[in-house]
Amino acid sequence: MSKLKGLAAGALALAALSTASAAEAETRVGLLLPYAGVYAALGEEIDAGFQLALEEAGMTEEFAIVREDTEVKPPVGLAKARKLVLEDEVDVIVGLVSSGVLGAVRDFVDGAQVPLIVANAGNDDATGSRCSKYITRVSFSNGQVNRPMGQWMYDQGIRKVYTLAPDYAAGRQMVGAFAEAFRQAGGEIVGEDFTPFRKTQDFGPYLTKAKAAGPDAIFVFYAGGEAISFVKQYDSFGIKADIPLYGSGFLTSPLYVNAEGPAAEGVVTALHYVPTIDTPENRAFVEAFRARTDRAPSEYAVQGYDAGRALIEAVKSGADSREALASALAKVTYTGPRGPVKIDPATNNIVQNIYVYETIKGDGGLTQKIVGTVEAVADAPNGCKL
Ligand code: PHB
Repeated sequence: MSKLKGLAAGALALAALSTASAAEAETRVGLLLPYAGVYAALGEEIDAGFQLALEEAGMTEEFAIVREDTEVKPPVGLAKARKLVLEDEVDVIVGLVSSGVLGAVRDFVDGAQVPLIVANAGNDDATGSRCSKYITRVSFSNGQVNRPMGQWMYDQGIRKVYTLAPDYAAGRQMVGAFAEAFRQAGGEIVGEDFTPFRKTQDFGPYLTKAKAAGPDAIFVFYAGGEAISFVKQYDSFGIKADIPLYGSGFLTSPLYVNAEGPAAEGVVTALHYVPTIDTPENRAFVEAFRARTDRAPSEYAVQGYDAGRALIEAVKSGADSREALASALAKVTYTGPRGPVKIDPATNNIVQNIYVYETIKGDGGLTQKIVGTVEAVADAPNGCKL
C-alpha cells in the first residue's frame, strides 16, 4: 500500500491496482507490543502468532514490519504509536496488550485515521463508548471474557465471592463484569481489593483480608508475571484447600502455567481460547505452532495469528487506502482455531465462544480441561456508534 503513496489518488491508484494484485503491494505494519515489563512474554507470543500467519499464507514479503515496545506504560505506548505513524508511515498498527495503553492511543489512531488491529488489550471502551471505525479488535473485550463466569459459578452452587485484580482499567473491568453478572444471578460479592499494578510483589496482606471475609470462592484477574506470583502465593499461603480459586483464564494461561506448577492445578477460569479445543482447525494450528516454537499455543498466540489472518484477508480483498483497510478488517469472518469468529458490525469487537476450563495435570505438564462452553458471546454496543 505504501508504494501507492505519492500517486495521484483515484483513477491512477485504481489503474495501478488493476494491473498488480493488491497483495503484491507492500503494506507497512507497526507491531506495537510490550517487549519489556510484566507483559513481555505476552508480547513475544503475539508476535510469534502474527509471524506464523504471514508465513502460512506465504506472504512475509508483502509486509514490512516495524516493531516498537510499549513497556506496558500508557505514555510510552502513545509516543511509540505517534512515531510509527508520523515517522515510519505505517499503514496499520497491530498489537497492544494493556487496556491502559489502548486507552492512551485510542484518540490518536482515531484522529490520524490509522487502522488499529487490537491483538490483546480488552478495554471495553475501545469497542463501546469510545469505539472507532479505525479500531477492530480480534482478541476479546474484558466484559466478554468474564461475564459468562457470573452465571456459571452461581450454577455450581457458589454464593459468596471475594474479588482481586490489579488496579488499572483491565483489572477493574474484568472483575466488574464478573461481579455484575454474579449479582444478577443471585450471588453476593462479599469484598474486593485492587492491588497496585506492576508494583505488587507480596499478595499476602490481600489474601489475609480476602480469607477474613469468609467467601465460598475467590475470583481474580492477573496476567503475565503477576499471575505467576499470585497463583504460587495463593497456594503457599495455605488457603487453596479451603477457598477455591476462579478467574479470568489469563490467570492460568498455557503460556506460563508451567511456571506456576502444581499451585495451578484445580483452578477454574474462562477464556476465548485453549489449545485443547478439539476441532480440525485448532489441531492444525497447534501442530503448526508447536513445529515453530516447540510448545502449545496460548490465547496470545492465537490473537497474534488471527490479527495476521484478518490483515491478510483485508489486503487480499483489495483495500487500497487506510480507510478501505479499516472497513475490510471489520468484515472479517471465518472458523479458526478458537471456533467460529466474526467482527460485530455494531462495535468492531470479535464475537466468539467462551470456554470455561480447569487446569489439570497432563502427560507433558499442566493442561486445560474444557468444562463448559458459552457460544457466540457478543457485547452490547454500550454507547458505540460506528
Ligand atoms: C489488558 O490490560 O487488557 C490485559 C492484559 C493482559 C491480559 C489480558 C488483558 O492477559
